[in-house]
Amino acid sequence: MPSDISLTRTHSPKARPDDSSLSFGKVFTDHMFLMDYEEGRGWHDPRVVPYGSLTMDPATAVLHYGQAVFDGLKAFRQADGSIRLFRAERHAKRLNKSCAALCIPEMDADLIRRSFEAIVAADHEWVPSAPGTSLYIRPTVVATEVMLGVHPAHRYTYFIICSPVGSYYKEGVKPVRILATDTHVRAVQGGLGEAKTAANYAASLSAQQEAERAGYTQVLWLDGVERKWIDEVGTMNIMMKIGDEVITPPLGGTILDGVTRNSILTLMRDWGLKVSERKISIDEVMQAGRDGTLQEMWGTGTAAVVSPVGELGYKGETIRIGGGQTGPLTQKLYDSIVAIQYGRAPDPHGWTSEVKIPVEA
Ligand code: COI
Repeated sequence: MPSDISLTRTHSPKARPDDSSLSFGKVFTDHMFLMDYEEGRGWHDPRVVPYGSLTMDPATAVLHYGQAVFDGLKAFRQADGSIRLFRAERHAKRLNKSCAALCIPEMDADLIRRSFEAIVAADHEWVPSAPGTSLYIRPTVVATEVMLGVHPAHRYTYFIICSPVGSYYKEGVKPVRILATDTHVRAVQGGLGEAKTAANYAASLSAQQEAERAGYTQVLWLDGVERKWIDEVGTMNIMMKIGDEVITPPLGGTILDGVTRNSILTLMRDWGLKVSERKISIDEVMQAGRDGTLQEMWGTGTAAVVSPVGELGYKGETIRIGGGQTGPLTQKLYDSIVAIQYGRAPDPHGWTSEVKIPVEA
């Protein structure tokens, strides 16, 4: 445990769920991480404490104006029992980038990384070991000033909670049906699209509900101006293979700089594949679907890792992708990332880092 982060252990540990019963984000561990910010004093008092409620005055700023950012990363139990985080540094940097986008004072990036390690070390027994399971770590920063004026707050709380998880989708790694929407938009240039902030998820809900009512799992988001260019899918980045080219929309303001997106692009470039970060229109994709050159499509994200797309609906037309099955590249990407995460394959880019577990007295 890093010495500047204090630890208060719970006196009433909870019963831990069986690994086989885990879904996504339903149960939480025994401890949480907390740190406070006050203008003039800066970020202070990093600590791990028993998991519990945050009490808030009803006039607390985040409850009204949504000045809130979060991130999500995972800790993986290795075959030898040790625990490794996947790309902790990149997640720490992204959390700070999200903070900056919402006028939240940034934290020391190394302290963020150590906060991940501290909470996982305290709750190390909660890291599951069954295949496909992991400990999901949810760092979050919220404005805690009590005020109704609309301006950046002068007080914040950074907290981390952790949840042992199985598959994000109840289908597991199975092809999903997605629906492109041209009636709702997730983000626009100059907005918050590239920040991991509560508002983006709130903005997704009604389109998601409509897609589910129409029998789809997720929404395919198009750009907010021309409603033509593909942005993201659900809460994930999107990629597709057309002919011999793998295409993903470029970062540029409206799209989250996904850590899994970056990892997968790196792997594919390592393998010598033709990879383009370029604008791609829904019309180009539908045409490729009709003429049979759209071979595979998948979403990438921390929670689900890789989520194959089996069907795409748009303006009343539905195209099947790869016969509705998980494609070979999609499967290879999933297997390769997961093998690195669980330490079953070499980690040439140094993406994983061990969490040191203190020897109990
Ligand atoms: C992810 O794919 O990791 C996400 O961002 C989903 C999360 C909001 C549950």
